[in-house]
Amino acid sequence: MTDNTDLIAEATDVLRKNDQGGYTMPAPHLYPHQWLWDSCFIAIGLRHLDVDRAQAELRSLLRGQWNNGMLPNMIMSDAPAYAGDRNVWRSWLNPDAPSDVATSGITQPPMLAEAVVQVGLKLSLPERRTWYKQMLPGLVAYHEWLYRERDPHHEGLVILLHPWESGLDNTPPWMYELHEHLMPFWVRALDKMKLTPLLGFVRRDTWHVAPGQRFQMTESLALFDAQIRLRRKAYQTNRILDHSLFAIEDLAFNSMLIRANEQLKAIATTLRQPLSPGLTESMDRTAVAFDDLWDPYTGQYYPRDFVSHNLIKQSSVATLLPLYAGHISKERAAELVKLIESEHLFGPAYPLPSAPVNSPYFDADRYWQGPSWLNVNWMVIDGLKRYGYHDHAHALTESSLEMVRTYGCNEYFNPLTGEPLGAKDFSWTAALAIDLASD
Ligand code: GLC
Repeated sequence: MTDNTDLIAEATDVLRKNDQGGYTMPAPHLYPHQWLWDSCFIAIGLRHLDVDRAQAELRSLLRGQWNNGMLPNMIMSDAPAYAGDRNVWRSWLNPDAPSDVATSGITQPPMLAEAVVQVGLKLSLPERRTWYKQMLPGLVAYHEWLYRERDPHHEGLVILLHPWESGLDNTPPWMYELHEHLMPFWVRALDKMKLTPLLGFVRRDTWHVAPGQRFQMTESLALFDAQIRLRRKAYQTNRILDHSLFAIEDLAFNSMLIRANEQLKAIATTLRQPLSPGLTESMDRTAVAFDDLWDPYTGQYYPRDFVSHNLIKQSSVATLLPLYAGHISKERAAELVKLIESEHLFGPAYPLPSAPVNSPYFDADRYWQGPSWLNVNWMVIDGLKRYGYHDHAHALTESSLEMVRTYGCNEYFNPLTGEPLGAKDFSWTAALAIDLASD
């Protein structure tokens, strides 16, 4: 048995350093605000150190909840230094945005119900009930918003309007759509004239991380363009959908939604407080509609374009997340496990690569197009266990911890060599290493 004492001490130190009082920033310099799914993973680790602090982390997410139920992907730091970030988003343009904090105008994967349950597991039953009671109204409002605004035709699958909403920012299917169909003409023109480097000053990420580990320049400009289009419509989904740049039924997001729905139902059952029939029907529809994302020819799930209804057949680590969703058949789960076993797909030395090794997009250093991330590993480990693949789950846990033990709490890791990439002292890596080591 490996001794994880040093690893836990180092990870604890990272979480302490990134603690901003009421919330934990994902990493110093690069990510100073509060991010939605980051705080969920952070709370899952914090619950082993200080359950009150873990509860505070999740409660503080509700500060940013909009009146319509949306949970934004970012709640901005109110430090004077970040007036620029607050002003790019201008959440105050939408009447539903909270008046006392500035936020972004888009969401991020629905991990909150999972985090609430995981923190609840550390509480006695009466304490857990109190905790659930505090969190239930916000959770219900969020899931209702997802269905009301992001499933406008009641098809069961939720759509995303910007790659940042997926959490897997430059993941192959989204970048395929961007390059093939959606690149704004002005970015294309600048690129042809080789002028995009002149606009390097608009991005701050490459001050902190080597450019080869982040978005390409054209992609960064296109995403900024997409962000401004959403702002122009004051983040109102019905207005955005008239002329949206992106509208994708994302595989990762909908997989997490299915799990979140189950966890939300469990919370409601513990409280003996039934969810509304409308919400339950929507949830049931998702589990059924998800099957439309399966492609029998390649034996994989894919995201789907909302308008054309064509599957976007580019594989990414989202391909494995139906294991985490947990509702697919044992046979389908077995097919996905085979992908993890193959060295040329999702099984290099330090899995799970964010794009399969044989993908035309694969780049071992570039953000969500190759590197391994601990949060995805955590979800897949959880799914593997629920499907009974305990050896696979154990091996993935060990390789995840080995990367952190050897190189520290980096944002992501080279899947071929294990080398550290992205931001240093990254909170969810620290938190999930603690959780995996404590299991
Ligand atoms: C990056 C990641 C995103 C994360 C954010 C803050 O943008 O792609 O998933 O939430 O950083 O850590």
